[in-house]
Amino acid sequence: MTTLRFHPTVFSVKDTYQIIFLTEKPGMGWVEIGGQKYLDAQNGLMRWTDEMHRVTVPRAALDEAKEYAVCFQEMEDRKPYYPVHGDTVRRRYAFTPLNADAPVRILYLSDTHGKCDGPVACAKQREFDLLIMGGDIADHNSTKQDLWVLFKICSEAVRGEKPVVFSRGNHDTRGRMAEYLPGMIGTDNGNTYFTFELPGVFGLVLDAGEDKRDSCREYGGTTCFELFRREETAWLESVKNEGRWKDAPVRIAVCHIPFTMRQQPPFDIEQDIYARWSELLNEMGVEYLISGHMHQLHILRPGDEQLWNDAQFITLVGSETPQEFVGAHYTISPDALHLVFAHYSGEIRMKEEILRK
Ligand SMILES: [Fe+2]
Repeated sequence: MTTLRFHPTVFSVKDTYQIIFLTEKPGMGWVEIGGQKYLDAQNGLMRWTDEMHRVTVPRAALDEAKEYAVCFQEMEDRKPYYPVHGDTVRRRYAFTPLNADAPVRILYLSDTHGKCDGPVACAKQREFDLLIMGGDIADHNSTKQDLWVLFKICSEAVRGEKPVVFSRGNHDTRGRMAEYLPGMIGTDNGNTYFTFELPGVFGLVLDAGEDKRDSCREYGGTTCFELFRREETAWLESVKNEGRWKDAPVRIAVCHIPFTMRQQPPFDIEQDIYARWSELLNEMGVEYLISGHMHQLHILRPGDEQLWNDAQFITLVGSETPQEFVGAHYTISPDALHLVFAHYSGEIRMKEEILRK
């Protein structure tokens, strides 16, 4: 009997969830919510050759039903007439949406660099409602197994029962299979920068790409992030102009690289672009930029000397080395942000309460 490789991951993108699940054999996938079927299909055809399935569902439908079923039918022989199907698997999952009337409890895990045990231990320490996977999940994406690290951690940390936001890190762009990653995660029409709208929360996911110039010899001409960041800036301007952020009581941005933070050469790239990103986030009233990448823990308030542009929001840098893995727990209530940076052993590395304006 064909089985799912991991529990599904429910990625939050715009006003949808993109439910992604991997199977051991190729076949057709769909999701059922409240008697409605949502298909993994394209151009009028079910997708039957892949072991990766993506089903987009309206956020409101899953938030209301609070449960879904992932379904999969193995394709034995897709003959032109009367195709032969294998087993059908149907697995039901409970789902807990965010509650707009309660504090938002976020767990941020980044810079796992291929390790699973530390991040999963952090997920068991405290309750949370939203998992943000903040990038550099595998050390590089050279094999299928590297791409599966994200799904393994999400599977063990939330078991398909909570929303997940994935923000790509620079290491996620490295290796032979890296170009396949955007096809396996929540994206806005293939773009790895997007908004997410959850009850009481408006979020922006920004992708800073690599941490050095495209001309860096390490990349051997494989990157074109300078163009990508310019396109992303135009998109960010359009998000600001659309104004969907205006009514959200909590507004956050997520970016693997803390682009507000002063960097040393050769990492001191794109200062003009990053200054513009900060300006746009200021204008949208974003309160927190949630980042990792540095393998350090920082709380950078406006005016901090480590900032290199006029960010009026707080930059939270919550990652350590993969060996000394630290999870960042952020609880945002109407009056304050409660922050705990906790080592996977449970030891608290930093704890702070920051009042909201
Ligand atoms: Fe990084």
